[in-house]
Amino acid sequence: MKRVILIGFMGCGKSTLGKKIARQLDVPFIDADKEIEKAHKLSIGEIFGKYGESGFREMETEYIKGLSCQGEFVLATGGGLPCFNKNMEFLNQLGTTFYLDRSAKELANRLKNAKTQRPLLAGLNDEELLDFIEVKLKERDDYYKLAKVILNREDQTANEIVNLVNLLHPSLHQRSQ
Ligand code: S3P
Repeated sequence: MKRVILIGFMGCGKSTLGKKIARQLDVPFIDADKEIEKAHKLSIGEIFGKYGESGFREMETEYIKGLSCQGEFVLATGGGLPCFNKNMEFLNQLGTTFYLDRSAKELANRLKNAKTQRPLLAGLNDEELLDFIEVKLKERDDYYKLAKVILNREDQTANEIVNLVNLLHPSLHQRSQ
């Protein structure tokens, strides 16, 4: 069964790459944040405002638990999802996890113009943004590195990764069973 799960920090490109991989594997693409927004009829910002980060983390865990009974998919998780409530353990049982690794500097560049949609980054100037990413990335690294496959997004093009996932997927899945 083809279940590809992309994890990584905000701005690493999970959704863009996820859509390409899904097209290639011919399976549905799922964006966890979008599904949670739809289910609760609130934006991520509104969820943070109303229920706090801890409320959002509970929603993320509840959401991925529901994916056990679905068929094949490519899933892009929110950046923090693997780091709470033993979610990483669960994701590794659910499918084949791929960590999209990027440096703090590159993430900061990519996120400069996309801060407003992300409550954890709201109000940070460029310097604060880089500091925040460096600290958070260190905190989260141990979780991200539990992924079955670590992909260096600065060395590999999106097309190379898509081809790699496509080629590797059957054998990776056998190993993860
Ligand atoms: C978050 C990442 C976001 C979203 C929320 C919290 C995080 O998703 O889930 O704003 O804690 O890293 P993206 O990684 O898709 O930006």
